[in-house]
Amino acid sequence: MRKALLLVIVLGVTAGGSGQDSVRDTVHNLSVSGPGTVRAAAETRVCVFCHTPHTSSFQAPLWNRQDSGGAYQMYWSETLDAYTSQAAAPQPNGSSKLCLSCHDGTIALGSTIASGDIPMSGGITTLPTASDAYLGQDLSGDHPVSFTVTDHLIATNNAKGDVPLVSLSEMRNHPLVRLDDGDRIQCMTCHDPHHDPFGDFLLTSEPGELCVACHS
Ligand code: HEC
Ligand code: HEC
Ligand code: HEC
Ligand code: HEC
Repeated sequence: MRKALLLVIVLGVTAGGSGQDSVRDTVHNLSVSGPGTVRAAAETRVCVFCHTPHTSSFQAPLWNRQDSGGAYQMYWSETLDAYTSQAAAPQPNGSSKLCLSCHDGTIALGSTIASGDIPMSGGITTLPTASDAYLGQDLSGDHPVSFTVTDHLIATNNAKGDVPLVSLSEMRNHPLVRLDDGDRIQCMTCHDPHHDPFGDFLLTSEPGELCVACHS
């Protein structure tokens, strides 16, 4: 509830402003004024593609998008300890589900809950498959997400002699990465969809720094 209230306040204040570090200057500005090639035909609101001040879904504070509900193929390997098989992998949850509502290419970019279908320019509907940002539903080659990191998982991994993981408290407190409220790794562990100072919505210009935040 506090988070939702905060969003209303921020939506009101930032929607008119801009700055090098704001959504407005990133390819996540899908409004007609967006800097990327994927943008709306006429819609001027920036936040509306992801958020609404009203009638939102229950996925996240004031979230304005449907959920793909797709069956994703998740990462797995013989040395992984987080789950025991590819079939046992958790399906994307939390913020990862939100990102995938555009990035898996199954839902129209302009499809919103509160403002209906917003037409995009150039005949674009879903995220173009030719885009580097298109992920599809096969995530088996991507870093595992949506599982919970526990002290037990870290201890099991480290006891086996796999690349060691740092402690859970070090992960929680690292300035460049964020576990979610349930200590899960999500897309937002490494990416911030609102800021893109370094490219790829990462919080650092050195992607390797992210990895050693957790894998020592
Ligand atoms: C491309 C999608 C996208 C756009 C565009 C977007 N956001 Fe978000 N926003 C997100 C996601 C994803 C979350 C995380 C929700 C969660 O934590 O479950 C979020 C969360 C938030 C939150 C909650 C606090 C936080 O940071 O977790 C605020 C406030 C917010 N957004 C404000 C805005 C405003 C203001 C705009 C327009 C200027 C905007 N957002 C545009 C994706 C977007
Ligand atoms: C409303 C749709 C939408 C949502 C939701 C969304 N994105 Fe995107 N994202 C896009 C579009 C459109 C692009 C630009 C694609 C292009 O230009 O080819 C993009 C580009 C990106 C890129 C590449 C940036 C670059 O520099 O080229 C990354 C990384 C990314 N998104 C991550 C995320 C993450 C992480 C989330 C969830 C927190 C998310 N996105 C949510 C639509 C979305
Ligand atoms: C462990 C950190 C991490 C997690 C978790 C993560 N990413 Fe990324 N992502 C990166 C890095 C680092 C890059 C920069 C390019 C690279 O090194 O592959 C990247 C690149 C991208 C790109 C740009 C396309 C490309 O291949 O260059 C998109 C889009 C993207 N991520 C979306 C997502 C989404 C959606 C999720 C959740 C399902 C996610 N990422 C989870 C670290 C992560
Ligand atoms: C927030 C912490 C965190 C960050 C950041 C992170 N990882 Fe991970 N990573 C983990 C955890 C936890 C696992 C699960 C380990 C297990 O189950 O054995 C994992 C698993 C992996 C695996 C699979 C290991 C296996 O045994 O199959 C690879 C590969 C990997 N990470 C590489 C990377 C790379 C490359 C980066 C940087 C782009 C990165 N990680 C960033 C925490 C993180």
